Amino acid sequence: MPDVYRKSSEHAYPTEGSLVDSFGRKAAKLRISVTDRCNFRCDFCMPTHPIWLDHKEVLTFEEITRVASILASMGINTIRLSGGEPLVRKDIEKLVIMLTKVKGIESVSMTSNGALLKEKAAILKENGLKGVTVSLHSLKPELYHTITGTKNMFERVLAGIEESKKAGLKLKINCVVTRGCNDNEILDFAKLAHDSNAIVRFIEYMPFDGTKIWDVERVVSGREIIQKIQTAYDLLELPKEYGSTSKVYKFKDSSKGEIGTITSMTEPFCGDCDRIRLKADGKIVPCMFSLDEYDVKSLLREGASDSEIARSIRKNFWSKSPGVETMMKTNVQMIHIRPMHTIGG
Ligand code: GTP
Ligand code: 5AD
Ligand code: SF4
Repeated sequence: MPDVYRKSSEHAYPTEGSLVDSFGRKAAKLRISVTDRCNFRCDFCMPTHPIWLDHKEVLTFEEITRVASILASMGINTIRLSGGEPLVRKDIEKLVIMLTKVKGIESVSMTSNGALLKEKAAILKENGLKGVTVSLHSLKPELYHTITGTKNMFERVLAGIEESKKAGLKLKINCVVTRGCNDNEILDFAKLAHDSNAIVRFIEYMPFDGTKIWDVERVVSGREIIQKIQTAYDLLELPKEYGSTSKVYKFKDSSKGEIGTITSMTEPFCGDCDRIRLKADGKIVPCMFSLDEYDVKSLLREGASDSEIARSIRKNFWSKSPGVETMMKTNVQMIHIRPMHTIGG
């Protein structure tokens, strides 16, 4: 997004009304990383030797809920919980209740690796969780285990998916596609969407890996993915929803299944970005592709009032980076930003 779109001067952030950045983008969705820990070791996410946050550094449920309600008072209405793996955080279902009670919050959902969903799906639904997005990067058990650095998890995750459906959670499947690894499974995933009415979203590989093996050559573009699927199925592209990360396609025949592509790398969607992130360590991240983070935990722990915290968030959010789209246009070298387990996607 060129600078010409910038609304006004650097310091002119509004002190009331919606939470807005200097390009005029309003925040509506909050993504909360509730822990940096995970029971998986996906190579595109986790470093070989992760440096874990100390427990004291992690926001409590009360602190998270307080930040969420301050943000809700500025127009945030949707929350997604992520991690690391959100289900490894003890009593996470209690946080779901706390967040669904926040005035102005219309929907709380979660992105999970699915390993603990078999046990947790029913209670999460009962406590008000709307939906769950399960990461499933291969339909071949052996490759699945290689990608995720796990053993014997494939069947468990499938069972978790079934349990989530049974519980009535809205289900989506995320598949990160990397060249030379799982790109020969694109049609199998499309078949899964077509035959079982699933919502499958293909995510372009982003430079958020811990092992720093990301390379542009390994990115499979959304366009390539759709072209591949169109060799077997007729697709209909739906109009893009405002603020959505994905391009959505229906099958032209009667299947209720859905395909989505999240083209962060080849066709970024920064112009209508309505997201703000809260990391487990209490840092606010306005844009996941920018290194800028703003501490809110110290304010919480030093006794700041809600309006002081709100003001600090407003000021920092105002300087939200234009995003990866601008970085690419200005030929900024794509670097490994931060490992995904610290931000949660
Ligand atoms: P809902 O849209 O709330 O349903 O959440 P979701 O997690 O199912 O999908 P969302 O579209 O929020 O995110 C899916 C994936 O898109 C994430 O796991 C990230 O990999 C990627 N993503 C999310 N937000 C952004 C963003 O702001 N920029 C970029 N480049 N990618 C994002
Ligand atoms: N690029 C794209 N997506 C990633 N994810 C994890 N690491 C990456 C990466 N480097 C996915 C997870 C999950 C979501 C939070 O982001 O698999 O579906
Ligand atoms: Fe864990 Fe998700 Fe990262 Fe895999 S992608 S290691 S499941 S946080």
